[in-house]
Amino acid sequence: MQNDVILEVHNLHITLDFDGEDIPVVQGIDFELSAGKVLALVGESGCGKSVTSQALLRLLPRELRITSGQINFQAADGQAPVDFVSLAKDGKKIREIRGNQIAMIFQEPMSSFSVLHTIGNQIGEVIRLHLKASKAEARALTVELLDKVGIPDPARAVDQYPYEFSGGMRQRGMIAKALACNPSVLIADEPTTALDVTIQAQVLELLRRLKADDGMSMIFITHDLGVVAQIADDVAIMYMGRIVEKGPVGEIFGNPQHPYTVSLLNAIPRLGDLSARRELASIRGSVPSLFERPPGCAFHPRCDSFMEKLCDAQPPPLTRLSPIHEVRCFLHQAAEKEAAL
Ligand SMILES: Nc1ncnc2c1ncn2[C@@H]1O[C@H](COP(=O)(O)OP(=O)(O)O)[C@@H](O)[C@H]1O
Ligand SMILES: [Mg+2]
Repeated sequence: MQNDVILEVHNLHITLDFDGEDIPVVQGIDFELSAGKVLALVGESGCGKSVTSQALLRLLPRELRITSGQINFQAADGQAPVDFVSLAKDGKKIREIRGNQIAMIFQEPMSSFSVLHTIGNQIGEVIRLHLKASKAEARALTVELLDKVGIPDPARAVDQYPYEFSGGMRQRGMIAKALACNPSVLIADEPTTALDVTIQAQVLELLRRLKADDGMSMIFITHDLGVVAQIADDVAIMYMGRIVEKGPVGEIFGNPQHPYTVSLLNAIPRLGDLSARRELASIRGSVPSLFERPPGCAFHPRCDSFMEKLCDAQPPPLTRLSPIHEVRCFLHQAAEKEAAL
């Protein structure tokens, strides 16, 4: 693994067991997360973002299975990297890493909390387990954490139940719980999707602060490129279980090369557009089901640049446009060939 890389996914394949038949869901994705950086995984609903994030912590449900690939993690302790794929699914090692070194937050904060216990008891329990702290120490640390994530009057909030929190507060509470063990990586799966715009901006600001102040590395999953611009350093665009374009945010936004990326960017609302009452560009058609995966480039039925007998014949290979910019599209392979002639 390269020096500052802490999590590296290599050629990861995931399949769905459907009545004994293996249906591909994720088809050989590669990405790297560097220390202190935010990598965004972006794509429309159904493209495999959540399945990928579950696989990272070996949390896939029984019907989904990693069939090949590597998930290499470099712990902060300087020991040799560990390949999560090689670990027993519910073994001691991966359970130690989950929540301790890598924490996860979701769209739905209630899945992180029991309705029966106070927020303080639930976060305190995590702290006591991992830091072997006393009850009083854990409570004090919980109040500190609640304060850190911007929960007003944390000394009172610590004794409240999840149902007494608003949606935005629960989201902050879940982030506090995720931070309780001081993880080095946070995986955030659509953490702001269910929130209204104002609260969404506040939660994004909180995550941005965690990155800036604490150097937290994050895998940030979203279907919304508008959010990516606000938080990520690097972005990987996913379509039907493949990464179709990848690079630094500035490069991908300024110089998008895959027709799918271009469509996603065109679909971001801009201030001027709304006042001008211009219709938002949306992407023609919808993501096909796993059982009707188009042959070749899976995006070809929706693509304005579709080339017959090429795009529908085989998946496009990876083209490196520059040391920092990769794309999987025949348009670029053709351009590369021409340049070589
Ligand atoms: N437990 C499951 N059983 C069957 N199909 C699933 C399961 N989880 C996800 N899928 C399918 O896998 C694909 C990717 O899903 P997902 O990762 O949830 O997409 P995203 O998070 O990008 O919206 C979708 O077609 C979805 O229907
Ligand atoms: Mg999802």
